Formats: sequence, structure tokens, C-alpha cells
Amino acid sequence: MISQDSRANPQIAANAGVLSILAAGWLARTIVAAVRERGRADLCLAGGKTPQAAYRVLGEMAGLPWGDTHLWFGDERCVPPDDPESNYKSMRDAIGDRPAVVHRLEAEDPDVEAAAARYAAGLPPRFDLVLLGLGEDGHVASLFPGSPVLDEDRYVVPVLGPHALAARLTLTPRALAAGRAGLVLASGVGKAAAVSAALTGPFDPKRCPAVLARRGQWLIDREAASALPRGFRLA
Ligand code: 6PG
Repeated sequence: MISQDSRANPQIAANAGVLSILAAGWLARTIVAAVRERGRADLCLAGGKTPQAAYRVLGEMAGLPWGDTHLWFGDERCVPPDDPESNYKSMRDAIGDRPAVVHRLEAEDPDVEAAAARYAAGLPPRFDLVLLGLGEDGHVASLFPGSPVLDEDRYVVPVLGPHALAARLTLTPRALAAGRAGLVLASGVGKAAAVSAALTGPFDPKRCPAVLARRGQWLIDREAASALPRGFRLA
């Protein structure tokens, strides 16, 4: 899923609401298929605001095999799990008390290196899906433009985001590449330039880390698609 070949052909949803429903359907189908084929599903989830509505839709779905569904995180802010900034808290609040097996990135641990190593040691061999949001600067997870982490051999590392308070733990490109499939969500005109750079610009991960997800499926709304050349498929 993290590779430089082929241009993605994004699915363009009419608006953020449709995007969330389509994304929830994608997550649900992945869970059902993986549990049917392998007895468990391993999903690596995105933080931030974009996927939250999709998580709420997913949490309201009946009949999903939650007990065999393992939820992981592509990154986490270095805050306690009950902090409003926590990706874990946002996701947990969104899917409610569904009994998924949630693997929390313990980024509040003062020893972030130890927390990173623990999480890396427990990662599954493959994710059935890696879900990513997109930053306006073209970051995915906490892989920010120009970051040395983009060349990292480890699977999980501490990073300092562009904003001083944003100390985080992130999965690296190497870890995110272990996805059988990838799905990138982007909503709003603020993401249009990053979407265009990621899908149509030069393959330069240092400048636009999101190019690493170019081969995955992109699910974007019309506003986020507004800087793309004509000819992209509509939802
Ligand atoms: C995080 C995310 C990050 C996010 C993008 C988009 O922890 O913030 O992992 O990569 O997906 O910054 O964020 P929004 O969806 O809030 O625009």
C-alpha cells in the first residue's frame, strides 16, 4: 500500500457526510471479509477529525464480528488516553462500547522509546486495512514533510510534530506498508492542494509524505477534489 507506482483513482463523494458513510462501509466490509477468511481483522486506524463520523457510523452497524476485530492506531499524541486530543479517546467515543480488541498506543508513557518498542513488538504481520487521514501539509499519520522518520528502519518511533506541543508516536512508512489495503480520507477545500500534490505531483515523500499512500484507495469529497485535474471518477 505504501509504494510509488500507479496513480490512485480517487472515489469522490458529494460531501463529507457521504464520504463518512462510504468509509464506514469500507471498514465494515474489510472486517467481515478478514474475519471470514482469516478468523480476525486487523485495522490500523487514523486519528484526527476526518474519520470520526465514519467511526460513529461503524459503531452503529449491527452484526459486525467485533470480538475478532483488532483496532490499531497509525499514530497517537503524547497525552493521556482520556485527553480530548487522544486519538484513542476520539475513536473509543465514536464506536462506543463495541467490544473490539483495541491496541492502544501508550504515548503518554514518559519513556516514549519504550512505548514505541512495545507497540512495534506487538504489531500483526499484516494489517487488513491501513486507514489514513491527510494533513493540509501532505502528512499522513505523524509523518510530516522533511521528517527524518520517513527514512526510519524501526516500525514505531517518537516524533515532534510541526507544533511544539504535538509530541507523538507514529508508525513509520515501513510499518504502514504492511497493509493489504490502504484507504486515505480527505474532506474539505483545505485539503485540496495536498490531495493534488499526493496524487498528481512528483513522487517525493520528503516534500509530500502522502505520496507514499498513492497506490491505496482515496476517498475524498468534492471540496478536497477541487484542485485535481478533470477526469477523476465520481462516487
Ligand atoms: C492525527 C492524525 C493525522 C490526521 C491528519 C488530518 O493524529 O492528527 O493521525 O495524520 O489524520 O492531520 O487530520 P484531520 O482529519 O483532523 O484534518
